[in-house]
Amino acid sequence: MKKLCCLLIFLTGLYGSVFAQFSQQARDSLNKLSREYHQAMMDKLGISELRHGPSGNPEAPNAANSKEANVREYTLPDPLVFEDGTKVDNAQDWQRREAEIRELFNREMYGRLPDNIPEVNWEIINEADTLEGDYPVTVKTLRGVIDNSSYPEIEVEIDFTLTVPQNAEKPVPAMIHFGWNWPEGFTPPRSGEGPTWKEQLLEQGWAYGELIPTSYQADNGAGLTEGIIGLTNKGERRDPEDWGTLRAWAWGASRTLDYLETDSNVDADRVGIEGLSRYGKAAIVAMAYEPRLAIGFIGSSGAGGTKILRRNLGEQVENLASSAEYHWFAGNFIKYAGPLTVDDLPVDAHQLIVICATRPVFISVGAPDVEGTWVDAKGMFLAGVHASPVYELLGAGGLPTDNFPPLGANLDEGEIAFRQHEGGHTTGPNWSYFIEYARSYFE
Ligand code: GCU
Repeated sequence: MKKLCCLLIFLTGLYGSVFAQFSQQARDSLNKLSREYHQAMMDKLGISELRHGPSGNPEAPNAANSKEANVREYTLPDPLVFEDGTKVDNAQDWQRREAEIRELFNREMYGRLPDNIPEVNWEIINEADTLEGDYPVTVKTLRGVIDNSSYPEIEVEIDFTLTVPQNAEKPVPAMIHFGWNWPEGFTPPRSGEGPTWKEQLLEQGWAYGELIPTSYQADNGAGLTEGIIGLTNKGERRDPEDWGTLRAWAWGASRTLDYLETDSNVDADRVGIEGLSRYGKAAIVAMAYEPRLAIGFIGSSGAGGTKILRRNLGEQVENLASSAEYHWFAGNFIKYAGPLTVDDLPVDAHQLIVICATRPVFISVGAPDVEGTWVDAKGMFLAGVHASPVYELLGAGGLPTDNFPPLGANLDEGEIAFRQHEGGHTTGPNWSYFIEYARSYFE
């Protein structure tokens, strides 16, 4: 029964996130086009066959491994050893090693930003004083209009809504939330009792912004010739090292930060980012690539986010490389699902955390019997553990232990924090812990 619940929660999440706004017919044609683009990328890479990933359905005969006892041994790339085998001894060495790691992520996993990304012009389309719960707020509805004079066939806009507390005496910290594009009239379920995350932020006197990633880059392979990726490619398909959707979503967070730098209500030096699941992946990618982001709250990001990919528990590289998810990455990444394997990948998730160093990263996950094991809670914890030596070399604090902590333990003493809450696929129950953590940096 519990397993069935997990599956339902998981499928509902997926349905809401990706497809709710499309009819069955539109969905079928999107899937068909995604498969076509995926095949074209395989052809470009000279790949004839890919391995299939395990199923996220725990009842399926090919269900993903969920047992710690079945986790194989693996060797992780050492973030403190250069590609030529020499060791990183100090902060100066680290700068060169960091550049190496970034290059590997660009080339092999998340893709490169093109040189010709056009300007974004922000417009405030509405400003209204209202209440959020009991808190008087001003809500600014914004639109980032992207200059498409290079290819007028594709129009792109960034949807962003900023909510600031009224009567603040000085610029306040803000959290950017990667928001789901719920169908009109649909109110997402609230997780648990008590104040919402928005009310909790307002209670601190902080602001929050809701950024809709799918407003500027669709969450499917078919959308790769549209949105900001399609615009920079003038409607053509991607080359293998071109940016994937996660980098595009992260780019949008950077542009949003550009706007926040111009908004006198917000202190742009104290802006953090939060996201769940695929948006948790986007949040850690945004942290890694945008040094102005001060803190990250990375929710159940799983494979492609902060989960060690080499662990054969939960979602695997083969799933990420399939036509349903490959758009999140550079085309090049799919080769690790055939002929190469995850062991050939020159990076793993701990290295995504180290390139955030030494800014604070709070890794959040739910309970396995509620959320399921697809996201691999321990895999995310271990990425934090293996990132810790870099934070420590640079004078910051990593995780205090390499023993997987019990549910609810709050490992928040260093710049890498980890907490597994009692709930499901949500950041909900961890918001209060994250806010407490962020206060030590924001106040
Ligand atoms: C699927 C996918 C995950 C992703 C999740 C979500 O489960 O396999 O990688 O994180 O959807 O975004 O909800």
